[in-house]
Amino acid sequence: MKPRVFSGVQPSGDLHIGNYLGALKNWVKLQYDYECIYCIVDLHAVTVYQDPATLRGKISELAALFLAAGIDPRQSVIMVQSSVPAHAELAWMLTCVTPVGWLTRMTQYKAKAEKQETVGDGLLQYPVLMAADILLYQAQIVPVGDDQVQHLELTRDIAQRFNSLYGETFVMPETKLPAVGARIMGLDDPLKKMSKSETASGHAVALLDPPDVIRRKIQRATTDSQPCVDFDALGPGVANLLNIFQAFSEWTDDRMRAHFSGMRYGRLKQEVADMVIAHLEPLQRRYREIAGEPGYVDRVLKEGAERVAPIANATVEAVKRRMGLYVPC
Ligand code: TYM
Repeated sequence: MKPRVFSGVQPSGDLHIGNYLGALKNWVKLQYDYECIYCIVDLHAVTVYQDPATLRGKISELAALFLAAGIDPRQSVIMVQSSVPAHAELAWMLTCVTPVGWLTRMTQYKAKAEKQETVGDGLLQYPVLMAADILLYQAQIVPVGDDQVQHLELTRDIAQRFNSLYGETFVMPETKLPAVGARIMGLDDPLKKMSKSETASGHAVALLDPPDVIRRKIQRATTDSQPCVDFDALGPGVANLLNIFQAFSEWTDDRMRAHFSGMRYGRLKQEVADMVIAHLEPLQRRYREIAGEPGYVDRVLKEGAERVAPIANATVEAVKRRMGLYVPC
């Protein structure tokens, strides 16, 4: 049996090149060697308020983007988290073995909580639900960007604690980061991670941005006061642009150096924009085809949930037995 992979994306905001390079691009590659489950984590999205109609639309858009990026539904499962109730069920059981102190020290929790007037309990429980997503399927490999590393460490801590309290139950999942592109920074502020929740227009390149918008955003990206690329003294803005280019092109370090050393920033931005557009245009074409096919995305999501529900339900049943909860005969 092939080892299992699980990963997810929140259907909040517009998917950007950080999400693509940090996660999706890697997912496509893994699907031929592993049994992959790719999840639209709508229960995570509602840990901060989402307009209901917008959220519903974003779920379908995200599923179509997974498909357009190259996730093949004959190879991989594409599913929505809330359509398999076992995610929420296991999350509750794991909540009961998770000390609150582990959750309050999560950096994403602290950053998100700072922005809210009242902090919903869901925001604190967020990483427990994420642990449930992964442990429910006994996933061995979790391909994510760098910002999820702490959540994955917590997942292992929760699994270990459960195993030591109730006996060996969960497999320890491993974090898989891409070699290049694990942390794409904002174009407007290269010291901040590119983020879906950031609304400034020059911050991120969205996967569905038209080519002229992509070009404009990249041309306006923050660099520094040097005139041209110096690999021995790279500022964060230029390093980010080179990183984006390398993650899309998959060029080696040597080829990057040979090509870009001494290049003026104007030319660098032009080449980065060309590379991003060359990759996103075909993806956008496929997206329009998929989104224009009535019923297709819903069918993929329904089949996805049906394929994984038996695995998820079997784990919940095993966990219930371990904990001494009632399992009807
Ligand atoms: P989310 O929706 O914030 O991001 C989805 C994926 O994109 C990666 N990512 C980035 N990679 C590189 N550079 C960036 N600037 C960047 N921004 C985001 C993220 O690391 C992620 O891989 N908690 C998760 C969703 C989740 C999940 C899971 C992931 C829920 N359950 C189980 C893995 C396994 C999240 O908020 O992702």
